[in-house]
Amino acid sequence: MFLLADKNASFWFPEQASTFAAEVDWFYMAMLYISLFFFVLIVAAMAYSMIVFRARPGYKGSVEALHNNTLEFWWTFIPCVIAVWIFARGVYGYLDQMKIPVDTNNVDVLARKWAWNFTYPGGVSTDELHLIVDKPAKMTMRSDDVLHAFFVPAFRVKADIVPGRYTNMWFEPSKTGVYDLFCAEYCGDKHSAMGAKVFVQTEEDYNAWIAKEMLPPANAWDWGQKQYAKTKGCIACHSIDGKKVVGPSFLDTWGKDVELAAGGTVKFDENYVRESVLNPQAKARKGYETASQMPSYQGRLKEEEISALIEFLKDVKTNTTKKE
Ligand code: CUA
Repeated sequence: MFLLADKNASFWFPEQASTFAAEVDWFYMAMLYISLFFFVLIVAAMAYSMIVFRARPGYKGSVEALHNNTLEFWWTFIPCVIAVWIFARGVYGYLDQMKIPVDTNNVDVLARKWAWNFTYPGGVSTDELHLIVDKPAKMTMRSDDVLHAFFVPAFRVKADIVPGRYTNMWFEPSKTGVYDLFCAEYCGDKHSAMGAKVFVQTEEDYNAWIAKEMLPPANAWDWGQKQYAKTKGCIACHSIDGKKVVGPSFLDTWGKDVELAAGGTVKFDENYVRESVLNPQAKARKGYETASQMPSYQGRLKEEEISALIEFLKDVKTNTTKKE
């Protein structure tokens, strides 16, 4: 679903949508053309020598190695200067990306199998990354489980997100629009689907969006639906249309007896949902014995949030899911 998303602005690259992009592209192309130039030069010299200096019948060869000081000096000196220049430019670009400006818009990024969650100052939390154009943004990133990586091709930025520590990065979006964010570190079954949309907006649009997100949900079902689809990432593994993703679908399960891996059945009710959210492995469903990756949401969901999720799950039926 994400592969065909960003249209390429040129043959090589997606749009240049951050202040880093032009520099990164220019430098990339410079290295490519330098490599190409020397590749052609060296292969041509090699081919030429193979033909002109090939062994001919009766030729005995020289007993001492031949040597050309001038030639050897220049073919060492020139590549050396180029390599040092590439290194220096690389350091320059790296330091630029490492040195986070003082005045930034901050977003907390949480990566987990297999969803992104972005929390903004003021507490708005969602699965979309919203940024203000021409304002430096700082990401404070952490992972709940394994290694992930934050990658926005249009911004030319990528950074690992390591469990157990915070990683920071910054960039400055320079163009309004919608871009793709990918996970760039293999993190399990649904790694390739672990993406998010990045919205670069004007300050007015951004503020309007934040104000809208700050509004309390209209009712418990809406709140539960929002948690399911946007803020808590349930949707990454549990469908509401009957498809088996990683975990069981929620379609038409409320109030039914479901089979357990350990044998027997349990009623899919408030108690079972709450237990499964807080301790997912306690009563694994039959057929999902190995799908044990679901992390516990103990301490991450408040009781009223669980209640709202339950309200939502009560009403995931074939004819009501269209509410979405
Ligand atoms: Cu997360 Cu790959």
